[in-house]
Amino acid sequence: MSENEKARRSRGRPEPAPVEVREMKLNDLPVVFALGQELFTAEKLPTLYRSWDEHEVVTLFGTDDETCLVAEARGEIIGFALGRIMEKPRNAWRYGWVEWLGVRPGWKRSGIASRLLGRLTELFLEREARMMLVDTDEENTDALAFFEKHGFGHSIRHVYLSCNLDDHPRPRHRRSSAR
Ligand SMILES: CC(C)(COP(=O)(O)OP(=O)(O)OC[C@H]1O[C@@H](n2cnc3c(N)ncnc32)[C@H](O)[C@@H]1OP(=O)(O)O)[C@@H](O)C(=O)NCCC(=O)NCCS
Repeated sequence: MSENEKARRSRGRPEPAPVEVREMKLNDLPVVFALGQELFTAEKLPTLYRSWDEHEVVTLFGTDDETCLVAEARGEIIGFALGRIMEKPRNAWRYGWVEWLGVRPGWKRSGIASRLLGRLTELFLEREARMMLVDTDEENTDALAFFEKHGFGHSIRHVYLSCNLDDHPRPRHRRSSAR
């Protein structure tokens, strides 16, 4: 037994669970969706909250399952990274888009997102991506610190606008019957 192991046992700390990063499977979808709901809340991350829904996860998994990853420890999903390769017509560049990344609160700052991002980067490189892209809420300081640590920069500001349709002159019942 190593000196570190002896010291850890003498302090009575539980052994950290081994973490596996693997491709997401169909069965993981409900858990990943629920974890995202826990993380992307209206109070903390309003713009991410608006775009996170079941359809988003199912669609990404349906089109880009090879770049959808989860981290698992003791049979529990503790993190996910959902990415996709993007190509533009008449543009030789391929982009690796990090669409969604999340880690279960009790597991933050344990290197889980770093491992997920590392694996996703390898997958993007294998698919000949030349640049990785990510966007997030301007207030999301945790994620900004994380991505900066991993070499992301050159941030460009982007503005979201909204229009409340409750005040629209067309009556609501006519809107739904017109579909
Ligand atoms: C952002 C997030 C994915 C980071 O996950 P994580 O597993 O805690 O990240 P890591 O442990 O791999 O962090 C690696 C490094 O990033 C930086 N970092 C991560 N979280 C940070 C924080 N809250 N504050 C400052 N720096 C942070 C640190 O440099 C850290 O290294 P260190 O712990 O040795 O100092 C996680 O906080 C999260 O799930 N947030 C909510 C969802 C979200 O915002 N997703 C991103 C947009 S889709």
